[in-house]
Amino acid sequence: GAELRGVVAMDGPSGTGKSTVSRRLAGGLRARYLDTGAMYRAVTLGVLQAEADLADAEAITRIAERAVVSAGTDPERPEIRLDGVDVGVEVRGEAVTKAVSAVAAVPAVRAILVARQQQIIAEALEAEVGIVVEGRDIGEVVAPDAGLKIYLTADAGVRARRRRAQDSAQGRDASIDEIQADVRRRDEFDSTRATSPLRRIADAIEVDTTELDVAGVLAVLNGLVIERGLAVARRRTAR
Ligand code: DC
Repeated sequence: GAELRGVVAMDGPSGTGKSTVSRRLAGGLRARYLDTGAMYRAVTLGVLQAEADLADAEAITRIAERAVVSAGTDPERPEIRLDGVDVGVEVRGEAVTKAVSAVAAVPAVRAILVARQQQIIAEALEAEVGIVVEGRDIGEVVAPDAGLKIYLTADAGVRARRRRAQDSAQGRDASIDEIQADVRRRDEFDSTRATSPLRRIADAIEVDTTELDVAGVLAVLNGLVIERGLAVARRRTAR
């Protein structure tokens, strides 16, 4: 068994299996896990609760400045809190999913959350624990010094089908066409925004998950972790 040292940056569009493989990668390597998307979702929930106008960047900024967003880093039990309240279920809901791109496009929101994310990463490195960080701008903005940068992709149809499986597991049902349109709309929005758009940067390794299952993706990622020298022998733990 090995454990991770340093940072793995996991970027890519939605529906690529990013969350699942990031959590499993972190769990298998005794590392922490940070879901930055959940932080944007938590701020978005705050915006919806305040009934702010999604086009009003100043109102959104004020809400983001006040909001206390805390993200747990246990890969077995990732937790997201808004002002102390566990909002893990609400942030996955349809209302938040529809509104999150608009909120994540506000530069001040990004500045606030990126600073918080960098603090969480610094704490892990300070404790000499590895961390897998997933999002859209991790390799480029949040952790430009990450030892390994991955850009996960998958064919759009496959991403829509995965998203639907995830949704129906949570009791929500939508047609595949609806989901595909929604996935496309969000990726388009996230890729074309002015501040930190989603894109594959030059030093990220693209891993196409269209033809791979979770175990297959993990095998590729674990191989890259070893190749980069980011895996160290597991420390003996007291029993
Ligand atoms: O990964 P997710 O679906 O939970 O992300 C939710 C939204 O947040 C997504 O539309 C893009 C945005 N996001 C972002 O802009 N930057 C990140 N680092 C993570 C997510």
